[in-house]
Amino acid sequence: MQLGHAITGPVLGIETSCDDTAAAVLDAGGVVLAEALLSQSGHAPYGGVVPEIAARAHLAVLPDLVAEVMRRAGVGFAELGGVAATAGPGLIGGLIVGSSFAKGIALTHRLPFVAVNHLEAHALTARLPGLFPDSAPFPYLLLLLSGGHCQCVAVEGVGRYRRLGGTIDDAIGEAFDKVGKLLGLGWPGGPALERLAAGADATRFALPRPLFGRPGCDFSFSGLKTAVAHLVDRYPAGPLPAGDAADLAASFQRAVAEVLADRADHAMAAFAESHGAGLLVVAGGVAANATLRAALQSAAHARGFGFVAPPLRLCSDNAVMVAWAAIERLRLGLTDALDHAPRPRWPLDAPDMLPA
Ligand code: KG4
Ligand code: ZN
Repeated sequence: MQLGHAITGPVLGIETSCDDTAAAVLDAGGVVLAEALLSQSGHAPYGGVVPEIAARAHLAVLPDLVAEVMRRAGVGFAELGGVAATAGPGLIGGLIVGSSFAKGIALTHRLPFVAVNHLEAHALTARLPGLFPDSAPFPYLLLLLSGGHCQCVAVEGVGRYRRLGGTIDDAIGEAFDKVGKLLGLGWPGGPALERLAAGADATRFALPRPLFGRPGCDFSFSGLKTAVAHLVDRYPAGPLPAGDAADLAASFQRAVAEVLADRADHAMAAFAESHGAGLLVVAGGVAANATLRAALQSAAHARGFGFVAPPLRLCSDNAVMVAWAAIERLRLGLTDALDHAPRPRWPLDAPDMLPA
């Protein structure tokens, strides 16, 4: 691998892997010059993201969104030092829209193109300059907690990831969304469930703690969701009594927090075996949850780890993280060919995350 490559100008990043259309321009040092994000609203009636609706919506709004961030950044396409798009994992239609658009710009203006792995973008966010006193040094332990992913990863360098564990069934955000639905909340259920749980009795309903105390750092959430479904089934059809719904939400959130702290503790122990105590970093939309953050923070401190939770707008899907991951790669001289194929599945430890 080559080191110390100069980046000739600002970098444009594009994110279209799920239901957020986002674009951002960062200067070569990682300072955000402009960012914009549109969350698609057309999926709510379906209770989940509809891939075809998502792809069409990305196509409809992306050109204007890119033009807007370029205008706000005061940068012309020809002045860019690179252009990047999320190329996986995610919904293939959106990935094709975003990466084709980026490739078009790269081809027209003869710019380096970077096909960004969405998980790597989440993983490297903690290194954005200016975010923390010192951007997170390698190696650190990442807990990725989103609607589509739930995994613990030792982040050892750009392209160098060791997956320590992950969910064996539902992703954590998926569990929040499914339980939110059972409680009659809108979609996505996570933020609404957290609001409902505020001030409610988290000890009222006894719920299971899947995999709690078991060796390793895998997660499981489907049994917890099923336990909530069984409790809800005991009530007559129709909305639950408000107080019961709130106590159930709080009990569920407490169970998730305890399981998460336990799994994180095991992950920190595994990480420390190779690297010693370090930094626990959380990312993904679920990292917005204050109860979960607090549980993880105290688990980290109990193990002698530092704890880093990026601001919410950088935890959930965004394009700043895509542009930043591209800057990290461009600094190492890593670019992608314009025939790079986006892929719906692209694990962090895939062999092509680093050149042979
Ligand atoms: O990372 P993200 O924006 O998108 C991807 O899934 O990639 O995460 C969205 C997920 C949804 O499942 C949503 O319900 C959950 O994050 N979420 C939350 C909270 N805010 C968002 N879950 C629990 N508590 C929250 N405050
Ligand atoms: Zn994500």
